[in-house]
Amino acid sequence: MVTPVVSISELSYGYGNSLPILNGLTLSFDPKEIIIITGPSGSGKTTLLTLMGALRSATVGQITVMGHDLMAANGQKKSLFKSFAPLKTALNLRKNIGFIFQNHNLIKSLTAQSNVEMALELDNVPPKDREKRAKTMLKRLGLGHHFLSYPAQLSGGQRQRVAIARALVRQPALILADEPTASLDFASATEVMACFKEAASLWGTTTIMVTHDQRLMPLVNRVIVLEDGIVVKDYRNDGALGR
Ligand SMILES: Nc1ncnc2c1ncn2[C@@H]1O[C@H](COP(=O)(O)OP(=O)(O)OP(=O)(O)O)[C@@H](O)[C@H]1O
Ligand SMILES: [Mg+2]
Repeated sequence: MVTPVVSISELSYGYGNSLPILNGLTLSFDPKEIIIITGPSGSGKTTLLTLMGALRSATVGQITVMGHDLMAANGQKKSLFKSFAPLKTALNLRKNIGFIFQNHNLIKSLTAQSNVEMALELDNVPPKDREKRAKTMLKRLGLGHHFLSYPAQLSGGQRQRVAIARALVRQPALILADEPTASLDFASATEVMACFKEAASLWGTTTIMVTHDQRLMPLVNRVIVLEDGIVVKDYRNDGALGR
């Protein structure tokens, strides 16, 4: 049996004193899986991604990501704030996660290429290799003519693809993506899905993406539908992508 990349058990989460947003979720994701999480607005999809990415942390249930226990309660002694996972655990884990979030968070004063290269600086990749890897990834995403463009000179879909290149270039074990294809036409969205698939076969990357786009669902291994913080559907499509 393979060890899951993410393992969640009876996880509940609410913001402050509000009603719980996630209600006793149990789910696990395997290496190389490409998963879509979908469901109505407000059903807890982004909340779940931020918990898996150690960007916030829960106190009820269990969540383990790449062997790191992310429950705030279990790390309280080491944690500065009891609502966060132990800081060191969270920082170590985030290094192995490629985040693609709705607001692309590109640095406006840097070119597309520098935005992507910057991700590799964190890993101490030598400058020559950084340049090569950044250019290869931007080309792969159809941005071969935009290495030196600044975010303001790019369309919404192009900016989104720079953010995807920035996440993929570090060859992360896990990609967490929130509507990564929202401003893309179908052809570009399909190309992005092909990049996730390539990452799975080259580096064993698992991709968990939130999307409302029905057209992408046949292209992934597994689709999970969340409603009011519970899983109402969880089905596999293994024919589509192969494993
Ligand atoms: N920082 C926050 N503080 C308080 N409540 C929040 C916060 N973020 C989200 N919520 C609430 O939690 C619920 C779930 O939000 P979440 O962003 O996870 O939904 P979603 O499924 O991603 O929706 P969408 O499809 O619209 O992006 C919503 O009712 C939202 O109002
Ligand atoms: Mg959301």
